[in-house]
Amino acid sequence: MRQVNIGMIGGGTVGSGVYHAWECNGDLMSSRLGVKINFQKVAVKAFDEPRPYAIPRALMTLDWQSVVNDPAVQVIIELVGGTTIAKTMVLAALKLGKPVITANKALLSAHGEELFAVAKQYNANLYYEASVAGGIPIIKTMRESFVGNRFTHIYGIVNGTCNYILTRMKLEGADFADMLADAQRLGYAEAEPSLDIDGFDAEHKIGILASLAHGFWVKPKDIYVEGIRHISKLDMQFAAQLGYTIKLLGIVKKPAVAKPKAKNGSRVQVSVYPTLVPNAHVLASVNHVFNAVFIRGDVVGDTLFYGRGAGKDATASAVLSDVADAALDLKHGSKSRVPPFVPHEMAGAVLPIGETVSRYYVRFSVVDKPGVLAKISAILAASKIGISSLIQPEGHQGESVPLILMIHDAPNAAMTKALAKIAKLPVVKSPPVMIRVESFE
Ligand code: HSE
Repeated sequence: MRQVNIGMIGGGTVGSGVYHAWECNGDLMSSRLGVKINFQKVAVKAFDEPRPYAIPRALMTLDWQSVVNDPAVQVIIELVGGTTIAKTMVLAALKLGKPVITANKALLSAHGEELFAVAKQYNANLYYEASVAGGIPIIKTMRESFVGNRFTHIYGIVNGTCNYILTRMKLEGADFADMLADAQRLGYAEAEPSLDIDGFDAEHKIGILASLAHGFWVKPKDIYVEGIRHISKLDMQFAAQLGYTIKLLGIVKKPAVAKPKAKNGSRVQVSVYPTLVPNAHVLASVNHVFNAVFIRGDVVGDTLFYGRGAGKDATASAVLSDVADAALDLKHGSKSRVPPFVPHEMAGAVLPIGETVSRYYVRFSVVDKPGVLAKISAILAASKIGISSLIQPEGHQGESVPLILMIHDAPNAAMTKALAKIAKLPVVKSPPVMIRVESFE
């Protein structure tokens, strides 16, 4: 049986998870693939760094270059993270014509366009199943199984930490800060929690899915991002009263109404923000650290993918799937499957957030006296923004009371402008809270 030799850079939590999964199931993989997978070398930060599973000392080195440059190593797995040294490593391997497997969403988000161009130039594939939604096989599914579809809508719960925090806030009526502390204690949040809770980790992932779906590399600066810091338990409760659950959604969709196009290309909304999801929609019941990606294809219709978005074992499953693809490509002497990323919509562009249209939940804090609602609705009406429902709960104490409006579809720019005017009214006591509502139509 033909053997393929793997060199891995990174032997910490995820790296040792990959090694362990291969130890458990490597023989099974070989019998399925007709190729023997062999781990040849593993570059680590320190021989004794903490790792959940052991890696044989004889395989380890501190010198990543000796792994990339070893003529016996045919496939490189990069599990270092970050966008600096990881980029050097990936480029070095690709330039030797070696296929590279990475779990590094930040690297792809920032430099995907360049890395895929280099991969093409050197006739080497760059695989990235583990970069989005951990163990959910979403990249391969989009690339291969949905090759006959146009992607009209993608909705992703792709950050487990935010989903964990929001789920517990909803189920337990808990505060954001306490739930963040729990997520950190349990090791869910990134070392720098801002990456999770301010939406940047989800931005990296949804940008990768948008690029794959629409055939042009979506730059992070073009993605509108809002995190979950400002979500309060009060909003969770009002959303629940209205029949909604708040989720951090990555959204990729084409606007329903055709707007002027970028030259010959289409314009696509690519964004990350907290969203009111109707409780009847399946994404409302994706709870705790689980991820889910909902995809609507023009041929297939609605589909849903659910699973663990992080963790050593789920990530290892995705990396091994890429190892199998790389091994088969080497076995057959050709890049026989749909390539990992093919630019095909060079004039595509991201729709600016101001031009996107959605429904909204808005919570005002207002003085409780006659005429307040009339003042607010007059400003909305002047901007052609319609109210679809309203709650003003009774029994609130103090000088201000909450007033919650649900707003019909409105352009984001008009809504933001109207809210800025309303915020200046003397009867409005604190900045309005605006959360978008998704109806999945
Ligand atoms: N910190 C990420 C999350 C996992 O919470 O989903 C790695 O992408």
